[in-house]
Amino acid sequence: MSYQVIARKYRPQVFADVVGQGLITGTLSNAILAGRVAHGYIFSGARGVGKTTTARVLAKALNCVHGPTAAPCGECPSCQEIAAGNSIDVLEIDAASNRGIDEIRELRETVRYLPARDRYKIFIIDEAHMLTTEAFNALLKTLEEPPPRSLFILATTEAHKLPSTIQSRCQHFSFRLLDYEEIFARLQWVCAQENVKADEGALSAVTQAAEGSMRDGLSLLDQVIASCGEQLEEARVRQVLGVVPSQLLNGVLEAIHAGDARRVLELLGELAAEGYELGNFCAELTRTVRNLMVARSCGAESSLVQVASQERARLAELAQLFGEEDLARFFNLLLRAESEMRYSLQPRFHLELALMKLVHARRLASLEALLAQLGQTGAAVKPMGAGPKNQPDPDPLRPLRKAAVADNFSSEDGPGPARSAPPEAPAPPRDNLAPAVSPRPMAPAVSTAETRATAKTAPAAGGPAAASALNTSSSGAPETPVTTGSVLGAEGQSGQPGAPETPDEDAALSNIKALLFNQSKRLLSSCLEHVTGFRVENGAVHFTFKQNDSFYADMLKAREQQ
Ligand SMILES: Nc1ncnc2c1ncn2[C@@H]1O[C@H](COP(=O)(O)OP(=O)(O)OP(=O)(O)O)[C@@H](O)[C@H]1O
Ligand SMILES: [Mg+2]
Ligand SMILES: [Zn+2]
Repeated sequence: MSYQVIARKYRPQVFADVVGQGLITGTLSNAILAGRVAHGYIFSGARGVGKTTTARVLAKALNCVHGPTAAPCGECPSCQEIAAGNSIDVLEIDAASNRGIDEIRELRETVRYLPARDRYKIFIIDEAHMLTTEAFNALLKTLEEPPPRSLFILATTEAHKLPSTIQSRCQHFSFRLLDYEEIFARLQWVCAQENVKADEGALSAVTQAAEGSMRDGLSLLDQVIASCGEQLEEARVRQVLGVVPSQLLNGVLEAIHAGDARRVLELLGELAAEGYELGNFCAELTRTVRNLMVARSCGAESSLVQVASQERARLAELAQLFGEEDLARFFNLLLRAESEMRYSLQPRFHLELALMKLVHARRLASLEALLAQLGQTGAAVKPMGAGPKNQPDPDPLRPLRKAAVADNFSSEDGPGPARSAPPEAPAPPRDNLAPAVSPRPMAPAVSTAETRATAKTAPAAGGPAAASALNTSSSGAPETPVTTGSVLGAEGQSGQPGAPETPDEDAALSNIKALLFNQSKRLLSSCLEHVTGFRVENGAVHFTFKQNDSFYADMLKAREQQ
């Protein structure tokens, strides 16, 4: 008994059946009809998107007894032999295993003979980028001026590895990755041919796992049919594919929205305990966040959102929980985590760290908004520490800004509203916002407000402060528990231990924050938002956190030890 896998069984036999590559198949059809077929082609693109398939259809189109035609009959001996891969005049060469100069010399010999039966002698060189430099050089002359009635098709997943001398002798077609809808529809069609009943969620899971490759989609379909029989249900299919249930993904996103770090870590622990591959989970979370980001920008109905139609409503709801900025930041963090996990001995730790960053990313954003508020007053920017001491405060708005700062910080203590909710203070005009959120604006934005006091306590930017600022409380536990208030909100309590003693120290703390921002230590800075006080001892700055914020002290300490 010989079983032919679905991907081979349903290989398109005419140009019209090749999904999603209309531009290429259209051009080739026109070239055939106009008698302008080139003697060398490069077909490049990701795995399983139709390169070999199109090469074979082109070969059939040229050699069909009824041709050359854009619609080969598929029945004549030439068509049938080409489809089966055993035509005497269409030679498929695997360059991965025939990569040397000897094989190419042999090929050059073969080219010199006319086709045995058909119109053209066609060489399909698969994985062409694997040829050695000598082999490419040996091919150059033949590719430049091949004998009449011969044609070369070089298929490769890595076109950039082909020498430019080869590229310039061929017409180059780039095959694109296929869209969600294109793969989904093809899978549906194949299921109908195979009398398999599949629910939408099941096919959606397979389509997403295919990641744009039709062959991957069809191979996975084969796998789930082998496992589930002729009735495909979403839950079972996800299990077979090792794809995380969508409720779990949604659960993680909801916990991130709620700022519930504990819940996020627990969910991750459950996944690991159930044997899910964490790399897969990260990839899926990334895909979901990408879909949320697109849904937020283009609407959940957009075809760019790659999910089944039944999932769109849920996706739209989730998208409303986050701001566009948040989602873009999440996307960035997860993409980075995904690639880090690939090369790490401790992929789980990377994922946990990334998820913690997502949980805290909203707080980081609020600090940016805060700095934007400070920046929008338009006060003259002075270099740090340049202001003369003991002069009257030149900024009449200073008390107002302090109040805004205190509001902003104290709002972080509670669960906090979703970022998508309108901010309490009106958003600053764009022009004013720009300097405060661009890569290096933080120090001026803060120093504008706090210049007066910096010279006394805060070390100058780039000076020893950089080292001492990182010297956090060595115990990891909060130095002096402070029950209420926050860094700037506690300004009035100057007698309290651990709280900033004077406006100078208050300003110094702000400067340390600004310094860290300048060094792009965004994570550190988000930890510093939770600082309630500090003290300088033996040239080191010790930060104080509230008891239940000891997590941030640990993060700082870990960073310092790196
Ligand atoms: N665009 C497509 N339309 C329909 N089916 C496709 C398409 N691309 C791939 N397939 C399916 O996937 C199988 C493999 O495709 P093909 O051999 O053309 O991939 P490829 O691009 O050559 O990939 P590789 O780089 O891995 O060799 C085909 O037999 C076919 O069933
Ligand atoms: Mg191929
Ligand atoms: Zn034919």
